[in-house]
Amino acid sequence: MSDSTGMGVPSGNAGDIVLEARGLNKRYGKVVALDSADFELRRNEILAVIGDNGAGKSTLIKALCGAVIPDAGEVLLGGQVVHFRSPMEARLAGIETVYQNLALSPALSIADNMFLGREMRRRDIFGQLFRTLDRSAMNKIARDKLSELGLMTIQNISQSVETLSGGQRQGVAVARAAAFGSRVIIMDEPTAALGVKESRRVLELMLDVKRRGLPIVLISHNMPHVFEVADRIHIHRLGKRIAVIDPKQYSMSDAVAIMTGAMKPPVEGATGPAQHYTVGEEGPHP
Ligand SMILES: Nc1ncnc2c1ncn2[C@@H]1O[C@H](COP(=O)(O)OP(=O)(O)O)[C@@H](O)[C@H]1O
Ligand SMILES: [Mg+2]
Repeated sequence: MSDSTGMGVPSGNAGDIVLEARGLNKRYGKVVALDSADFELRRNEILAVIGDNGAGKSTLIKALCGAVIPDAGEVLLGGQVVHFRSPMEARLAGIETVYQNLALSPALSIADNMFLGREMRRRDIFGQLFRTLDRSAMNKIARDKLSELGLMTIQNISQSVETLSGGQRQGVAVARAAAFGSRVIIMDEPTAALGVKESRRVLELMLDVKRRGLPIVLISHNMPHVFEVADRIHIHRLGKRIAVIDPKQYSMSDAVAIMTGAMKPPVEGATGPAQHYTVGEEGPHP
């Protein structure tokens, strides 16, 4: 089997790749946020994306979901080149994203936020003539989804999102993604604002979504979380992917060392952990 990642982790068949990016570039003035970045998400996996602050993780994710238009490079969904011009286009194609800076509208209700951009209209004459929203249907579905996912106990589905705690808001965003994503779910630091119990619930939800057949991209700084749920780990550094590692073969400290440049990334065909440049605080492979 060929190693198309070139990074030590054997690749599956081409048909296993759900979402892919090749040679993405994105500049902000003099800042190079993406420098010929590659990306590959496979069927039935949770792919973690890790990297230092400013490495370009969020920009990569935004380029995959239409929130950022790359200067160069291409994005492929199911093997077809796509040109998303907005997150809504990506959502319509089945890619749901939970952004790091929550893309919820605080003044709107929980239900309205869940249906933002895909509101249901009443089927009667009011819906046809005046495009009147079917609030009771949306409220019911929102309530069902949230309780089905067990993410939170919501007293009142029509309360505004600004009255929720940070963790509850995150719950709404995650529930929305899990409820509507049909091809890919992307989560940028989904547990960063959450307490221990809420984080646990989100991790379980991710495993649950994976079991239901949807692949997930998880951007996270939380190494225990990453190592608990990820099938593969994409390491991003200075605007590009420098390695993809198997969490079963590398320790957390190795992953951090590769991410920060203290350890050489594995090269093509490598099987075991790479060598440290210097012996720092990162201990040897356990
Ligand atoms: N909208 C923007 N305008 C200017 N610079 C940006 C913008 N978005 C990201 N950057 C810069 O691009 C680089 C990568 O940022 P980002 O993708 O947010 O990294 P990460 O998510 O890995 O922390 C950083 O230097 C950041 O300051
Ligand atoms: Mg970020």
